[in-house]
Amino acid sequence: MDPIVDLDFIDNRTPEQATASAAACDTHVTKDNNTGKSRKLYIESYGCAMNFSDSEIVSSIMFEQGFDTTSDIAQADVVFLNTCSIREKAEQTVRNRLGQINYHKRKKPGMVIGILGCMAERLKKSLLEEEKIVDLVVGPDAYRDLPNLINEVDGGQKAVNVLLSREETYADINPIRLNSNGVSAFISIMRGCDNMCSFCVVPFTRGRERSRDAHSIVREAEALVAQGYKEVTLLGQNVDSYKWASEDGTESVNFAQLLERVALLSPDLRVRFSTSHPKDITDEVLYTMKKYDNICKYIHLPVQSGNSRILELMNRTYDRAWYINRVDAIRSILGEDCGISSDMIAGFCTETEEEHQDTLSLMEYVQYDYSYMFFYSERPGTLAARKLEDDIPLEVKKRRLDEIINKQRETSLARNKRDIGKVHRVLVENFSKKSDQQLSGRNDQNKVVIFDKKHYKKGDYVNVFVHDCSVGTLFGEAVD
Ligand code: SAH
Ligand code: SF4
Ligand code: F3S
Repeated sequence: MDPIVDLDFIDNRTPEQATASAAACDTHVTKDNNTGKSRKLYIESYGCAMNFSDSEIVSSIMFEQGFDTTSDIAQADVVFLNTCSIREKAEQTVRNRLGQINYHKRKKPGMVIGILGCMAERLKKSLLEEEKIVDLVVGPDAYRDLPNLINEVDGGQKAVNVLLSREETYADINPIRLNSNGVSAFISIMRGCDNMCSFCVVPFTRGRERSRDAHSIVREAEALVAQGYKEVTLLGQNVDSYKWASEDGTESVNFAQLLERVALLSPDLRVRFSTSHPKDITDEVLYTMKKYDNICKYIHLPVQSGNSRILELMNRTYDRAWYINRVDAIRSILGEDCGISSDMIAGFCTETEEEHQDTLSLMEYVQYDYSYMFFYSERPGTLAARKLEDDIPLEVKKRRLDEIINKQRETSLARNKRDIGKVHRVLVENFSKKSDQQLSGRNDQNKVVIFDKKHYKKGDYVNVFVHDCSVGTLFGEAVD
């Protein structure tokens, strides 16, 4: 399948890097899993890492129901699109894709088409009326019901379940790692979000925040280590508010403690996490990161805007000074080399030129390694859509976004240049995109490093001397 390019999402990272963030906006198709089951499932996932992780849970539920996965849509009996609603563009991409899928359905009329994820939750039953080829609409908390819903569709009906839950964490479901390179895997540690940022649709599509049983998270990480995985990324919309307590109240675990438990499993397991919220990230988390070499020194800390009035309108519950204080804490506890990345929204409601300049000056101050950058897209039902006018003209939003992107390119390059002349520990994930004589991996700070293969292979930790860089990549040579 051709990659679908989201034009309001611009960065220079590899898919591995992009999906490590809860902000990612790329597309994944599940790999083949051929165990001789009678029916075939094809899943395409859009949006963030939570969605990619959910598709692995869905694959597992469907496997129990007699489905292998296929990467060839023409072979599929059931086609799922696990969708994203974060910006209007994300939804439009899915609608366009449905148009293309219609071609396959016409050739194979029994093909079942399901919409999962955030768009299913946002649009509910109305999706069935708007998109005639859709048979099934299932929200993020209803995947356990898929076997029943598939039965209903097999019986000739259309089926919908978009109930949100306060408890569902799919803790007991063993995900089938279809999106993985066999080296790194995602583990969902919580679901939903209680933050109500005024621009954001996630609290409506994913429901209330809930934390998953800490023991089930540690068991999942342990199983991954046993299978030879070298890296896990703990996922949540706001990992710093992770809080789990046992039913009898004798045990309670916060995010720093969870990180520690996972880090202790093996010194050879790299631990990453995403996303941190500036209002919640604690010094305890930073000191835990410092204490364990295998917790990667990289933090995705989305700021959204550098101006305090805009941050208030966004309901982010921190201001510029608070954010700078958190960045200073990161730099003083973890050092200048700790990677920091961000998400930025250009042209939020009522943003003036001076306020936009504050975003640029904050970027200059923080020196982000990279960012996900967007222009504001009003989402129906959000606080901003109800209370604020989307009054910045599109061309102004785009021009401000361009300025933000240019600033980011500057700081990315400056940060990458600092890495030249140093040896980095790189976990190899794949061949480089350009040559099978070169390998691609990431250093501790989540930067992509390319180097000649020599005798190294996927899953190895390699010390690489970096001698060159571009805006998005470091280039080096393995040293023994
Ligand atoms: N939980 C994460 C963000 C998840 S959404 C956090 O709080 O940081 C990923 C990113 O999409 C957000 O950080 C924001 O930059 C962007 N985004 C969300 N809603 C948007 C909208 N309506 N328009 C433009 N960008 C948006
Ligand atoms: Fe959306 Fe804010 Fe929650 Fe992130 S923290 S998912 S931006 S509401
Ligand atoms: Fe993720 Fe998009 Fe939903 S960013 S939580 S898939 S709206």
